[in-house]
Amino acid sequence: MTEHAIGALEALPNRAGQRFDIGEDRIAVFRVDDAVYAIGDRCSHAEASLAEGELFDLEVECPRHGAEFDITTGEQRSLPATKPVPCYPTEIRNGEVIITITSEAHDE
Ligand code: FES
Repeated sequence: MTEHAIGALEALPNRAGQRFDIGEDRIAVFRVDDAVYAIGDRCSHAEASLAEGELFDLEVECPRHGAEFDITTGEQRSLPATKPVPCYPTEIRNGEVIITITSEAHDE
């Protein structure tokens, strides 16, 4: 389990995604006002970046074929995706966003 500081919450675009590459993990980070969520950036259906998808409340729509994923859990919510993406614990410490990479969440 490793913690990574990715910068200030205020520096993230609100209600949108941003991709971070941490080691071998490709992570889509979404800020929703004062909260932040992190899931695997690689769509479980095919090659696409979920950080580039459109956010509807707490679901992101894959920009390639439109599958939706819950950004709080990584669960897929609609076809054509049939598998979830990893979900990474996040924390805000003194305005700084911390992402924890666990072995279960590791994006392979
Ligand atoms: S690549 Fe995401 S739905 Fe197909």
